[in-house]
Amino acid sequence: MKYLIRPLEEKDIEAIVAGEMEVFGDSLGYDLIYADLKLNPYAHYLVLEIDGEVGGYLSLWITGEAAEMINFYVAKKYQGMGFGKKLLDFALRLCRLCKVKSLSLEVRSSNLPALRLYEKYGFVFSHVRKSYYRDGSDAHVLIKKFEVK
Ligand SMILES: CC(C)(COP(=O)(O)OP(=O)(O)OC[C@H]1O[C@@H](n2cnc3c(N)ncnc32)[C@H](O)[C@@H]1OP(=O)(O)O)[C@@H](O)C(=O)NCCC(=O)NCCS
Repeated sequence: MKYLIRPLEEKDIEAIVAGEMEVFGDSLGYDLIYADLKLNPYAHYLVLEIDGEVGGYLSLWITGEAAEMINFYVAKKYQGMGFGKKLLDFALRLCRLCKVKSLSLEVRSSNLPALRLYEKYGFVFSHVRKSYYRDGSDAHVLIKKFEVK
């Protein structure tokens, strides 16, 4: 299995939207991702390519000392093989290179695989966003702090 992590290209967007629909049943949508790619200098989309196809992605906005994770998934058929850790490692290295002091994210309070993963990488619970998701469920806001010299 050959894989790489690379920046988003316009030709990836349809596959990413389809992948989001598969894992979340919902998507940020083509237009938002397209606008981020073309117009948002703070947006970073890390695409996981496996054997020539899009197998997931992680996006974040880095605005000075603060960064926010926007979305993150690995396609179902590739989950549990370590690709999530590879994407997250890459994102954390990018944050360190950019001298980010804190990275925040929202995660569904019921999403145990993701919560375990974030805990392993030093994310700490900050607060709850009530009824954050369209189906009315809550989000946990997690934050990872970086040592910046
Ligand atoms: C969360 C997600 C990105 C992890 O990607 P992945 O490639 O499956 O993860 P990895 O194989 O790298 O595993 C990383 C860690 O996640 C946790 N994990 C993964 N699958 C798990 C499962 N089914 N149950 C419990 N923990 C799990 C484990 O802590 C694991 O570490 P370990 O291998 O040392 O035990 C992936 O499961 C996914 O896309 N889920 C649906 C979308 C989602 O929830 N995105 C995050 C939104 S905030």
